[in-house]
Formats: sequence, C-alpha cells, structure tokens
Amino acid sequence: MAIDPVIETGDSMPAINILDCPKKMFRWTRQQQANGELVGVVPTMGALHEGHLSLVEAARARCEKVVVTIFVNPTQFGPNEDYERYPRTLQKDVGLLSDLGVDCVFAPSKEDMYPQGSSTTVAPPAVATKLEGECRPEHFGGVCTIVLKLLQIIPADLACFGQKDFQQALVIRNMVRDLNLPTQVAICPIKREPDGLAMSSRNVYLDAGERKRALSLVQALRQVPEAIGQGIKDTGLIETRMKEFLRPFVDRIDYAVVVDSETLECLEAVDRTVVGLIAAYIGKTRLIDNCVVSVAGETDLLIESNH
Ligand code: PAJ
Repeated sequence: MAIDPVIETGDSMPAINILDCPKKMFRWTRQQQANGELVGVVPTMGALHEGHLSLVEAARARCEKVVVTIFVNPTQFGPNEDYERYPRTLQKDVGLLSDLGVDCVFAPSKEDMYPQGSSTTVAPPAVATKLEGECRPEHFGGVCTIVLKLLQIIPADLACFGQKDFQQALVIRNMVRDLNLPTQVAICPIKREPDGLAMSSRNVYLDAGERKRALSLVQALRQVPEAIGQGIKDTGLIETRMKEFLRPFVDRIDYAVVVDSETLECLEAVDRTVVGLIAAYIGKTRLIDNCVVSVAGETDLLIESNH
C-alpha cells in the first residue's frame, strides 16, 4: 500500500516519519542517538490493537524517541498458515501511532527486508525447541532472523515485546543475550478485552460464536492460580484440569501445560514460578494465551471485569 512518507498530524503534534529503506532507518536512529536521545523500538506485524499500543506507551515512558516497525514477516509463517490473509491495515495503524506521538514508523516491503539472494538465517536459542517450536517448526527461526535484522537496522536502546507471546519473548530475550546485542529487552504485560480475552490481531477472524468460545482459553488458565492456591502442586493434575475445561469449547488443543517460566521445561511439581501456556484452535483460528504464577499463587492474570 502506498503511503505518504510524512503525515501531518495537526499543529501541536510533530509529523510522523514513515520509512521503508533500511539504510535511512539506520541513519535516522543513529541521528537521534547522536542528539543524546534514547530510542525505543516496538516490532509488530501491524493490524494494531491496544496490546501493541501498550508497548508503545512502555517504550515512550523510557525513551525520548519511539519507532514502531510494521512488517508481516513471511519467514515466520508455515506453508499452511495465514500469511496471505493476515490483516493488513497500514493506513489505520499509522493514524493510531501518529495520535500517540510515535516519531517514526518503519514499514518495509518484503523486498526491502529480504532482497534477492538474501539467505542467512538465525538458529534460535534452545528455549525455541519446545511447545510452539514443536507445532510450528520454522516459526522461531523466522522470528529470530527478522528481529535480529530489525535490531541491526534500528540499533535501539530498548525494544519492547509482549508477554502475550510468552515463548517468543523468552526466545528473543535469550537471542539478544547470546548474540551480545546492545539493545535492552523489555517484556510488557498482556492487554486483555474487558471479559479477559487476550487482545490479538487474529481475533478479527472469530465470528460471534467463536468469540464466545475463545474465552475458554483465559478461563482455563485461571485454573492454574486457583489450583496452586488450593495447595495442588502436581502439574499433571493441573494440566488435566485445564484440558478438561477447554475440551467442550475448542476444536483442537495443541498444548495446555504448566512449565518452568524460565526454561519452559516440564516439572512434576509446582516448586518455583511457573507459566501456564495454551495454544488451541477455535474453528480455523489458532489462539495462544498464558499466565505466570509464583509458588505463592500470585498471578499476572488480572482481569478488569467480573466475568
Ligand atoms: P505481533 O503479533 O504484531 O505482535 C507485536 C508485539 O505485540 C509482540 O511483542 C506481541 O507479544 C505484542 N502483543 C500482541 N498482543 C498483545 C497483547 N494483547 N498485550 C500486550 N502485547 C501484545 O509478535 C509479532 O508481531 C512478530 O512475531 C514480531 C516480533 C513483530 C516479529 O515479526
């Protein structure tokens, strides 16, 4: 989609820069840093919702300049996944970011990011092999490659990612650490709809009946702090509870597990901070959600409504 490189945002707000050229983006970033300003980056695939916007706010709270990248990365989609139909709403996204006072949007084309002949890829860290890695074998290789490329093009001081994609956040954090990238990684809380559904660009695929059934993910995750609060330590038992809860509502469960929140390794008993992770299909739509629970039963599963 063609878009003006600079969008005027009214008298009070400076214009937002829209760049697609990696070299220009790199120079822009270095220029801000040379001026003594911290740069924060929020990598996205667009179709922005409040979850993405909360990452922008987190970056803005800590950096003078914020860049949002919008690129539907083909290399992280499997052959039968939704790359073609993934929602693309660039004009609207730029409007939202401009209202938030974002300084720059990097929206490259496929050719800008993967020019002819480009063939180098990143082997993801060990934590990528489990769960999503088993269901979507090429996925994290694609994610690591694009995120590394983005952090080379935008050598930001801070990069914000969402806990919504819990395993992805661990994979990126570990890659940044292992490859000595200078950018600091922040993992930000999950934004939810008032009834608890985790916000996702893929929620637009759900019809009204599926939207209701999709709530079962967060409801099943609530079993985790509830069970731990009741003194149940056996992860197998908690996983069974989650699956039994999900089964009437979902069309397929890829996984519903309670694992170590740092390594994603299986545990027999809840003896440290754990994360409950679910991936399940509602119709043709694959949804993921998670919640972290400490041994004391403290959870991040805070839902604003009383549903
Ligand atoms: P995307 O799905 O667009 O998500 C961009 C960022 O927004 C990710 O860090 C994701 O975890 C975060 N996010 C999504 N939903 C959220 C929610 N409800 N609350 C808080 N944060 C949320 O994740 C990707 O894109 C891509 O894999 C990417 C990292 C950009 C690489 O292509």
